[in-house]
Amino acid sequence: MKDFFLLRVFVWAALQRCYTQITVPATGLSGCEGDILVLLDSSGSVANYEYSQLLLFTAELVHPFSIGRGRVRVGLIQVGTNPHLEFGLDVHDSQESLQKAMQRVSQLQGDTNTKAALGLAWELLVNKEQVPKVLLWLTDGVQPGDVDEPMSELKEQGVSVLAVSTVHANYKVLQRAVTPPLESHLYSVDIDDIDIITHDLREAIIKIICAELLRVVHLTSHSAVLQWHPVVDADSGYYEFWYKPIRTTKPAVRRTLSGDSRKTELTNLQPDTTYTASLRPESNHGLFNTLSVNFTTLPDVLSPAEVSVSGSGPGQIRVSWGPLQPARVRKYIVEYGAIPSGPVGTVTLHSRQSSALLSGLEPDTEYLVTVSALHADGKERAMSVRACTREALPPLADLQLAPAEQQEVQVTWEANQDGLKGFWVTWERRNSRSTSSNPSTSSVYLPPSTRSTRLARLAPSGRVCVSPIYSSGRGDGLCCTANTLRG
Ligand SMILES: *[C@@H]1O[C@H](CO)[C@@H](O)[C@H](O)[C@H]1NC(C)=O
Repeated sequence: MKDFFLLRVFVWAALQRCYTQITVPATGLSGCEGDILVLLDSSGSVANYEYSQLLLFTAELVHPFSIGRGRVRVGLIQVGTNPHLEFGLDVHDSQESLQKAMQRVSQLQGDTNTKAALGLAWELLVNKEQVPKVLLWLTDGVQPGDVDEPMSELKEQGVSVLAVSTVHANYKVLQRAVTPPLESHLYSVDIDDIDIITHDLREAIIKIICAELLRVVHLTSHSAVLQWHPVVDADSGYYEFWYKPIRTTKPAVRRTLSGDSRKTELTNLQPDTTYTASLRPESNHGLFNTLSVNFTTLPDVLSPAEVSVSGSGPGQIRVSWGPLQPARVRKYIVEYGAIPSGPVGTVTLHSRQSSALLSGLEPDTEYLVTVSALHADGKERAMSVRACTREALPPLADLQLAPAEQQEVQVTWEANQDGLKGFWVTWERRNSRSTSSNPSTSSVYLPPSTRSTRLARLAPSGRVCVSPIYSSGRGDGLCCTANTLRG
């Protein structure tokens, strides 16, 4: 009876601690993604008090994580004679429901059939979502069974095995089971002191499931934006941030960033240079690891990096280029000449201009167009394209309508014969059905030698249009309105 009372007191004290010692900000670690599967020794060799302490420890360990699919998923397998899946990885999608479930877990007793439990762990972790996976093995270390092989298999599948043991027996087995490094992945503690490892073990898990805490999210030749998952909050901490090119003896550029900052932009970087950047969270709530990232800026892009041609006409070409770098370019020079030889024309343009219309060119001719940029630093960069002007499409020269016999209309026109393929003649026809007063439109294609045609049944005041057709398109046509008197 006395023992029972003591036990109750211990559990109560431990529960109190669970509610009062949580100091991690609510926004903490919301950016991590991965699976944590807890393998909890629930066998008869674990004292009841020890068991509840392990549960409380686990609850606090996972408390800062944002729980759910796409974030951190936590599952719990109890190890006994038969393994018991207390809850799978997809059961809880909030810290609240996870914490409540942890309070309801009760001890199985029986043997420590860890091997069978690892079979269940395999089913939950292997060949599933491509996210980092942690198997956290909590044991008293007493007769865990033959775990070497199943642990190796899990590790081969990329599962990180971390272990906490409360008794020093079988330490060798644990050493073989965990994923290196042992210093941060294997803990052997007295159950009453287990809280002292919470922070380190959590950091070790964070390193696995929040692998890229400091990430480069945007990179150009002269700038970078670095982003990180929240580690401290504005009330309780701040960040020390510094960066420099890897190969330099100069001191790093340093900044202090507020606790609620999530990203920072680095400007005036050298192109094509590898930098190292570090972020150290500073907080009252404990020590945090310094996060680091290396990145290489993009090679410098000097305008013009691309030149293109659009909307060429019979005697003109529009040439465009980019990128616009008005701060770095003094002026652009566009040179153009017919291929293979011809006089070279030159246009000089302001640094804010990104296109030019070259006109007065020969139709149906290939040109070489070169765009050069004179940069402020004295550099010069040029890029050339070939472009063809369209063939000339001379318009129709004249169009006349004259009445002819039998209510027909004689249409005559004049046109330039060069490159001509024919003519489109369209006219508005009197409708044969008296029910409709709307004229309908007819068209006819005539050979290039044609200069006149006769149209019958032209609508009163109907329009007649004639357009010259060339191999590259339709030239401008002319239209006339018939002035027919109905007889
Ligand atoms: C960055 O590069 C340096 C030098 O190569 C290396 O020592 C360091 O580990 C790298 N840091 C990261 C975060 O990769």
